[in-house]
Amino acid sequence: MQSTVIAPSILSADFARLGEEVDNVLAAGADWVHFDVMDNHYVPNLTIGPMVCQALRAHGVTAPIDVHLMVEPVDRIVPDFAQAGATLISFHPEASRHVHRTVQLIRSLGCQAGLVLNPATPVEALDWVLEDLDLVLLMSVNPGFGGQGFIPSALDKLRAVRAMIDRTGKPIRLEIDGGVKADNIAQIAAAGADTFVAGSAIFNAPRTREHYAGVVGQMKAAVAAVR
Ligand code: DX5
Ligand code: ZN
Repeated sequence: MQSTVIAPSILSADFARLGEEVDNVLAAGADWVHFDVMDNHYVPNLTIGPMVCQALRAHGVTAPIDVHLMVEPVDRIVPDFAQAGATLISFHPEASRHVHRTVQLIRSLGCQAGLVLNPATPVEALDWVLEDLDLVLLMSVNPGFGGQGFIPSALDKLRAVRAMIDRTGKPIRLEIDGGVKADNIAQIAAAGADTFVAGSAIFNAPRTREHYAGVVGQMKAAVAAVR
């Protein structure tokens, strides 16, 4: 079984104080930094790119940086993120003309590779590529914005993908992204997730290390009770 990972989405952090926000959330017990990249093309929003990833590394962040690409095309920008210090790079199959090639590209640059399924993307998108992945990310909201509500059908999808991963016998992580809160994370974990993205649930005010530690601690305790 994979260890539990809490990956705060910095989409909901204070961008004017990003280094400090990331330091605080990691000191509060978070495991990874979830880094949402949006291009105003694949999704209707625009966020941050490789320069910001590089800046976090230069600031001293050593935790894994979990880059979630919501961009199209994908391949052009992958080397930039590998160079900028990404640990893991995930992308949406709809945004890449050659999904398997993109997976190979990510891994050839020394990063781990993840594939992201939107709420309406069937789990069959994982066929023929699952065994080459380090992580599957299931969206429990439509990508583009933080602060949306968890779509309940994601629970059945988690159970389905959990079974697919278990059949491979490989250490592939199952990550969930969107609407994850301290009060629904237990049922999400019970459905098979081991890696949990949470943006607004963690970074909504008050923006203090103590508040972050409280939420991350509640989340870890809730997950530990069911895994
Ligand atoms: C949405 C992003 C998420 C988002 C999660 O497109 O991929 O990572 O920031 O935010 P919350 O936890 O607020 O739903
Ligand atoms: Zn994300």
